[in-house]
Amino acid sequence: MENKINIGVIGYGYWGPNLVRNFIESSRAKVSMVSDFKTELLLKAKTRYPAIEVTTDCQDIFTNPNIDAIAIATPVSTHFDLALAALKAGKHVLVEKPMTVTTDQALRLIEEAEKRNLVLMVDHTFVYTGAVQKMRDLVVSQELGDIYYYDSVRVNLGLFQHDVNVLWDLAVHDLSIMDYVLQSQPYAVSATGISHISGEPENIAYITLFFPRNLIAHIHVNWLAPVKIRRTLIGGSQKMIVFDDLEPSEKLKIYDKGITLNGNPNDNAEKVYQMLIGYRTGDIWVPKVEMKEALQTELMHFIDCIEQSKRPMTDGYAGLQIVKILEAATCSMKNQGQLVKLNLAEVGV
Ligand SMILES: NC(=O)c1ccc[n+]([C@@H]2O[C@H](COP(=O)([O-])OP(=O)(O)OC[C@H]3O[C@@H](n4cnc5c(N)ncnc54)[C@H](O)[C@@H]3O)[C@@H](O)[C@H]2O)c1
Repeated sequence: MENKINIGVIGYGYWGPNLVRNFIESSRAKVSMVSDFKTELLLKAKTRYPAIEVTTDCQDIFTNPNIDAIAIATPVSTHFDLALAALKAGKHVLVEKPMTVTTDQALRLIEEAEKRNLVLMVDHTFVYTGAVQKMRDLVVSQELGDIYYYDSVRVNLGLFQHDVNVLWDLAVHDLSIMDYVLQSQPYAVSATGISHISGEPENIAYITLFFPRNLIAHIHVNWLAPVKIRRTLIGGSQKMIVFDDLEPSEKLKIYDKGITLNGNPNDNAEKVYQMLIGYRTGDIWVPKVEMKEALQTELMHFIDCIEQSKRPMTDGYAGLQIVKILEAATCSMKNQGQLVKLNLAEVGV
């Protein structure tokens, strides 16, 4: 098929091959070049996809006039330089999560993309899953009532990263899901965490985020857990969600459970003492969710955005929002959980 969007991919380690495969499997894009420093990885790419050109020098991708867009799947510390160079070369960019290491860098990329009318998208993969889309629909339609809390656990015996702590690796997923589903911005963050290997970044962390209207969120991430848990609870005044991403099919369960208050808390103190909390239990519902590979949906959205000059769902501002929270959480963690105020409006989010 003619008029396919021509993609170059930088980084063919763990995640890069998933990008290449999903682009190639679509009928709307082709991958013409892959770059990695490691020749053995390039050999793997070439063996699997003989038509792809490979190079150890990513400049070859920037200067290739046939390439429309570049996907960057390299370590976090390299995202900014590579994405900026790609934008300056006039290419649309899909950059891995987290977008950059600092908010200043994220803002600079947004500025460059806007100046050149190029698409800048961040790979917040979970946002494109059927389960997360469904959770957002339930929150937006007020099915859950007022949202009281967001609580997630993402732990396993994970790959220890050397350049970033566990927040910048695992919590990015939870923060991007939370940001997309709640559609509300936290005003403060507190985080604690610790490293159990001398000289290495923190491998376990707990973040608490405070939102307007009595909404609180807590995220627990850990690379040193004996079991794998990927579970999120969202509690509302009417209903509550349990999202278990390890469930093969019934990933979401909606509980019609809650409490009822009998008595008026504004009455005199004695009456408050007598106020009764009642429990309400109703049906449990398992909604149908789209089970398509999220990365396929996401990459087709990237192609749509390029073709129709649309703003991506996970655009530079979505990436910036997460980097801002991660930066504040890291600062709080250095000070043993000291509350750090977030002014997201200040950075244009
Ligand atoms: N969206 C997701 O669910 C998801 C999952 C895993 C990783 N990631 C992200 O993907 C990125 C890469 O992670 P990974 O686990 O694949 O890392 P990795 O170390 O396995 O692979 C990165 C590769 O990039 C190559 N590289 C680095 N700089 C380069 C350059 N200038 N030119 C060419 N090649 C270069 C390295 O040689 C390496 O092979 C990270 O940002 C990570 O957060 C995202």
